[in-house]
Amino acid sequence: MTLFEAIGGEPAFRKLVDEFYAGVAEDPLLRPMYPEEDLGPAADRLTLFLIQYWGGPHTYSEQRGHPRLRMRHAPFRIGAAERDAWLLHMRRAVDALDLPPQLAGALWDYLERAAYFMVNVMEDP
Ligand code: HEM
Repeated sequence: MTLFEAIGGEPAFRKLVDEFYAGVAEDPLLRPMYPEEDLGPAADRLTLFLIQYWGGPHTYSEQRGHPRLRMRHAPFRIGAAERDAWLLHMRRAVDALDLPPQLAGALWDYLERAAYFMVNVMEDP
């Protein structure tokens, strides 16, 4: 069984990302970063990416090509504040899935590492 299946398959990833974007929609720092009025297409891209990453179907790459996530985030200024806001909404979303602790931990460790990796501005400590 893949982690994709263990986490709950596509419905679980849809729920994760829907919860996450419900937070982003209300976030004064993050919401203005999303160029489109409708957050639905962005939610779809993140859902398909996470499904692919965790061992589900490769629909993301069929539609979008190689993820190259740092490159795709280059147009956005991502400092510690943006990273922490992103992680705050993602933490709530992971909690909403009510997964067994080991699965929630694996999912969270990845998301936290990925968010730190996406930071693209140098700031004074
Ligand atoms: C796209 C912000 C971290 C995955 C985007 C977009 C923004 C954004 C503004 C453009 C919306 C769109 O057109 O899809 C941020 C911020 C982050 C962050 C502020 C803070 C650290 C992450 C992380 C991941 C991720 C950690 C993966 C685990 C994606 C994906 C896309 C995306 C898959 C769509 C890429 C595409 O196919 O064009 N992000 N992001 N992001 N982000 Fe993030």
